Amino acid sequence: MRIVKDPRAMRRASQALFAAGKQIGFVPTMGALHEGHLSLIKKARKENDAVVVSVFVNPAQFSAGEDYEKYPRSIKNDAILAQKAGCDILFYPASKALYPEGFSCSVHTGRISEVLCGASRPGHFSGVATICLKLFNIIMPHKVYMGRKDYQQVAIIKKMVADLNINTQIKALPTVREASGLAMSSRNNYLGPRGREFAAVIYRSLKEAAGLIREGESSPGRIKSFIQSMLRGRGVDVEYIAIVCPRTLDEIKRVGCSVLIAIAVRIDQTRLIDNMLVSRR
Ligand code: PAF
Repeated sequence: MRIVKDPRAMRRASQALFAAGKQIGFVPTMGALHEGHLSLIKKARKENDAVVVSVFVNPAQFSAGEDYEKYPRSIKNDAILAQKAGCDILFYPASKALYPEGFSCSVHTGRISEVLCGASRPGHFSGVATICLKLFNIIMPHKVYMGRKDYQQVAIIKKMVADLNINTQIKALPTVREASGLAMSSRNNYLGPRGREFAAVIYRSLKEAAGLIREGESSPGRIKSFIQSMLRGRGVDVEYIAIVCPRTLDEIKRVGCSVLIAIAVRIDQTRLIDNMLVSRR
């Protein structure tokens, strides 16, 4: 596995692969790799001739006061894990290489990025879309692999690819969970043993709410109250519980054939998100 830091060298490597008719699979990450990332890399390995993984903690997607500085960084371990999972090129650029002096352009992602996580993290998804577009332009991947845990992020990147005619395909893979059901996330590293124990209630509440919907419950209000009651008293500070249309992410008035239940909470100051797509068909 090669480690490439310079965006120009990365582009040259991609151009050579392209010219040789090789199919490139790409997994964008912020590092602190866990089983969720590794499942994406392994899938990319199976479906492509070459696999590129980026590790870049993107300052543009953190607001002031968020955890940019303390975000876990573990490049040595990431390199070992990425290589084992089948990565050919690890792209590890410096912040200055991607955001030189005077950088001022960004992707405007519209209404879909103002709801759910976007409501409490203004500018976050514009930062995500901007870095993804930059990475896609440098790496020119045929396929990009992302995790469904970040459902809204994937929906926004898919929309950007469609709206801006970007020549790639976004593949969303299932959320990988710890034995307790907690969705894998680099931010789980912030949780202590007690926090981890409490956090397992998020998935339990999603599963039980999905059960209610499948049994015929159609009122978003009642489903939300049910989840709220499961989270109450478990050391969980709720940011939102939302029942939305899986395509637009707008809140719905009545549950139809398929809905997305999305949750964001804080446990011991750590922000955790999870979601479940529920279909009645
Ligand atoms: O999901 C992430 O880790 C990041 O948001 C991404 C897609 C790598 C962009 O920085």
